[in-house]
Amino acid sequence: TSARVTIDPHFVVGAVDRRLFGSFVEHLGRCVYDGIYEPSHPSADADGFRQDVIDLVRELGVSTVRYPGGNFVSGYRWEDGVGPRADRPRRLDLAWHSTETNEIGLDEFATWSAKAGSEVMYAVNLGTRGVLEALDVLEYANLRSGTFWSDRRVANGHPEPHDIRMWCLGNEMDGPWQLGHSTAEEYASLAAKTASAMRQVDPDLQLVVCGSSGAQMPTFGEWERVVLERTYDDVDFISCHAYYEPKGGDYASFLASATDMDRFIDTVVATADHVKAIRRSDKTIDISFDEWNVWYQSRYNDVDKITDVEQWPVAPRLLEDTYSVADAVVVGNLLISLLRHADRVKSASLAQLVNVIAPIMTEPGGPAWRQTTFFPFAVTSRLARGNALEVRLESPEYDTELYGTVPMIDAVATHDPGTGETTLFVVNRSLTEEVTLDIDVTMLGAVQVRSAVSLHDDDMHAANTLADPERVGLREAAAARGDEHTVSLTLPAVSWTAVTLG
Ligand code: AHR
Repeated sequence: TSARVTIDPHFVVGAVDRRLFGSFVEHLGRCVYDGIYEPSHPSADADGFRQDVIDLVRELGVSTVRYPGGNFVSGYRWEDGVGPRADRPRRLDLAWHSTETNEIGLDEFATWSAKAGSEVMYAVNLGTRGVLEALDVLEYANLRSGTFWSDRRVANGHPEPHDIRMWCLGNEMDGPWQLGHSTAEEYASLAAKTASAMRQVDPDLQLVVCGSSGAQMPTFGEWERVVLERTYDDVDFISCHAYYEPKGGDYASFLASATDMDRFIDTVVATADHVKAIRRSDKTIDISFDEWNVWYQSRYNDVDKITDVEQWPVAPRLLEDTYSVADAVVVGNLLISLLRHADRVKSASLAQLVNVIAPIMTEPGGPAWRQTTFFPFAVTSRLARGNALEVRLESPEYDTELYGTVPMIDAVATHDPGTGETTLFVVNRSLTEEVTLDIDVTMLGAVQVRSAVSLHDDDMHAANTLADPERVGLREAAAARGDEHTVSLTLPAVSWTAVTLG
């Protein structure tokens, strides 16, 4: 089977924002405790953070990290997590049926984030709290000194402000599972008041208002319209969240999950622009796709198994999905979808970072390792530079239960005008067919193949585990110069590939 893709560096979609390669650390399961933080671990630094995890986060190439939740944030009092550790309360975490020790809070996370070379994206609690608490945490985090909360931060040993630029106005407020779940009108009213109050402190903050927690939500579309009509002038982004899994063993649809992400983004863009039109506004709202991943929600219902509220555990093993090669191909394809929308998706967060539906796993006192999904993320973050390009694709198609007829091959390219390098990111979604892809490079000039890596395995269910942490890794892809106009790539069934030309 063969396919063809034409790359032209003039066909720019938009500049690739580094914030597309964000991730997410929630107080959930072992993401924070026994994940990024394990003071007794042999690799722990002076602050108790695992250096082996920091090294992997840096290798992953994570830009922003959303914190502290997630569903957790809707029951969170941020003040619990600052000041002397001995005075910090233990609290019930209603979202995850856990006990929160508050050993890690805003100051510690900001310290970790700087060590990991990432930027904090902070979510305020609009589930059970409101405008005042959002203003307090903003004052604590960002004011230099001379006020109650900024002086408290200084007294707590952090003389420099954390200078957090991106703020999420709550989390998934459309979801019935959310503490403080509200109607679009109720949420829009609170979000608008909170956003305008926060802007009085700092007009240059970048604010993210909650969109839908999934395109399958019954309120999807209407929620975005109502919320944006009310908050338009005071926010910069609307959020999208999406998780995918093979339902009922339907891998053909699962491998085409990016089709759903494409439609989701297009619909939210259309809704945002509709509100722009009726408001006669010059301002454009962008998307923060601040939760996305493969998540085996149907396989892991472990939260419901924690029942006795008197004995909610500290940092239990929750949502510890093991990812396969097929999952990694889908993750690679979702990154292709995000890049394809680089004109409007300016921020995104892979949910989550460590142990909890994560590319990085750890064992207490033991090793940290890369899941299969680590590889497409790390390579895309490293190679997607400059502008995202629209490519012309001629691909065979296949039928899916969920999305109808879809192309077997999906691809996007980026071009860096500074270095002249172009990278093509491509997946073969076919369960059975190897595809030979001819890349028409005429418009790129006299380019050579600089690198070509791929993720695939004869067993698409192969995974990296504690017992076999390096079972799956990147392989060199079969790329060869054809005639002067063509580079030829062999794409095995169920594979993800990145090829750099320059
Ligand atoms: O990422 C796991 C959970 O998924 C988050 O806490 C929540 O926002 C979403 O439903």
